[in-house]
Amino acid sequence: MSHYGGHMGALINPSILSADFANLERDLVKIAGADYAHVDVMDNHFVPNLTVGMSVVERLVQVSPVPIDAHLMIEDPDRWAPGFAEAGAASVTFHAEVAQAPVRLARELRRLGTRAGLALRPATPVEPFLDLLSEIDMLLVMTVEPGFGGQSFIEGTLPKIRRARAAITAAGLDVWVQVDGGVSRGTIERIADAGANVFVAGSAVFGAENVAAEIDVLRALADAAPHQH
Ligand code: DX5
Ligand code: ZN
Repeated sequence: MSHYGGHMGALINPSILSADFANLERDLVKIAGADYAHVDVMDNHFVPNLTVGMSVVERLVQVSPVPIDAHLMIEDPDRWAPGFAEAGAASVTFHAEVAQAPVRLARELRRLGTRAGLALRPATPVEPFLDLLSEIDMLLVMTVEPGFGGQSFIEGTLPKIRRARAAITAAGLDVWVQVDGGVSRGTIERIADAGANVFVAGSAVFGAENVAAEIDVLRALADAAPHQH
């Protein structure tokens, strides 16, 4: 029995940014017990790093044992994000800071049958977006500056997670709150307590001795944490 609208426990989405890019199919098999595979798409403009594009995501969708959660750290998501939905990503998250028409884009993603996610950098306030929550399926609160794996969790993002969850609960919505950056055994309980229910973890999962077991450890820690909502 869960804390999120009564149906669901914590979701663990390993980030393949910390996987072996020469062996992505092999590494996806290791996370078959996860809820989604988180794929970080970076364009070297929105963030100072460059990863994979649509054609790679399309192939990952075909070989992954779990659905693909695409996190687009790219400029001009209005132009590019629908293509990732058409490529088969189950969830497509674009950044609020660069979306020209976030509601139009979220509606387009939903029309294409994918979950629509809106992401906020650590310094981007959630308040301007609270009235748009009914238009999205997930709010991603970045808990490191986007661009790289292995950075340390920014504690100052916890109040924003709390305020976002409180607003979602007050509105009676079923919007997921995802956190991305610095999620580990040492931080996940506090993040769950603040109200997040979807946890991206790159280095913590792929750096573990036993990748499959680490997913279960993280999920159990999140599920055992007290929740404010
Ligand atoms: C960073 C990416 C994250 C990254 C997280 O910009 O969005 O998904 O892989 O890595 P860890 O979990 O190592 O902080
Ligand atoms: Zn990410």
